Amino acid sequence: MNPPRKDIPAQAIQKLADSKSLAVITGAGVSAESGVPTFRGKDGLWKNYQPHQLATPMAFHDDPGLVWEWYHWRRQTVLACLPNPAHNAIARMEERVKDFTLITQNVDRLHARAGSERVLELHGDLHRARCSECSAITDLEGQEGVVVCELCGGAMRPNVVWFGESLDIRILEEAYRACGRSDCLIVAGTSNVVQPAASLAYAALENNGYVLEVNLDPTPLTGSATDTVLGKAGEVLEELVKLAFGES
Ligand code: OAD
Repeated sequence: MNPPRKDIPAQAIQKLADSKSLAVITGAGVSAESGVPTFRGKDGLWKNYQPHQLATPMAFHDDPGLVWEWYHWRRQTVLACLPNPAHNAIARMEERVKDFTLITQNVDRLHARAGSERVLELHGDLHRARCSECSAITDLEGQEGVVVCELCGGAMRPNVVWFGESLDIRILEEAYRACGRSDCLIVAGTSNVVQPAASLAYAALENNGYVLEVNLDPTPLTGSATDTVLGKAGEVLEELVKLAFGES
C-alpha cells in the first residue's frame, strides 16, 4: 500500500466528485506500471527500434514478416502483464459517472481487462488483425509469422494505426465530442506529442472544462492544463479516486 499523496489539488478531487461528464485520455505511461514499455524516454521502444522499419505501411510492404514478428512479440508481452492501479482507478470512474468516455492511445487492451467498457481506442488494438484487401477484422490468438485472411487470402496486417496513417474518423470525432462536453478531463501518462491525440485536451479547455494532467514529467500540455500532478499514474489516480469517491 502506498502512503497517501499530499499533492493532489483539492480542486481536482472536487471536480471529479462533482463531474457529470467525465473524459479520460491515456497513453503508454498508464501501462508502464504493468510492465508494458512506453515509446519515448530512457527505455522507450523508439530508443531501441526504428518506427520506419516496423510501424509504417512501407515497412509492412517491404518486410511483412519482420513487422508481424514485432507485433506478435508486443502482443505476447502485454498478455503477460496485468492491469495496474491506474487502469483500476479509471474503471472505477466509469462506474461513478454516467457520461464517461475513456480515450486511449494504448493498443494493449489493459483498460478492458480492468473492467473499462466505454473505450475509444484511437490507435487500434494489438490483439486484432485487419485484411489489407477486404478489410475483414479477426482476433489474433496463437498465430505466428505473417497472417493471411481466411476469407479472401489477402495479407492481414496488425489492426493498429501506423505512422503516416489517419485515425478512424468516427472514433476521433467521438473523442473530440467527449472532450468538448466534459466538465472534467484527466490526461494521464502521455507525452502529448503525437497528433491528433495531443490536441484533444484543448477541446475541453476551449469549453472551459477542467483539465488535470498526471505524468511523471512535464509535457507540452503542462502549461495549459488547469492542474498537473507529477507522479506515477497508478499512485495518483488510485488516491484521487479514493478521495473523490471514498473507499471501494
Ligand atoms: P510516450 O512513450 O510518448 O509517453 C509516455 C509518457 O508517460 C511520458 O510522458 C512519460 O513521462 C509518462 N510516464 C511514464 N511512466 C509513467 C507512469 N508510471 N505514470 C505516469 N506517467 C508516466 O507514449 P504516448 O504518449 O502514449 O503511436 O505515445 C503516443 C503514441 O506514440 C503511441 O500511441 C504510439 C507512439 O508512437 C502509435 O504507435 C501510432
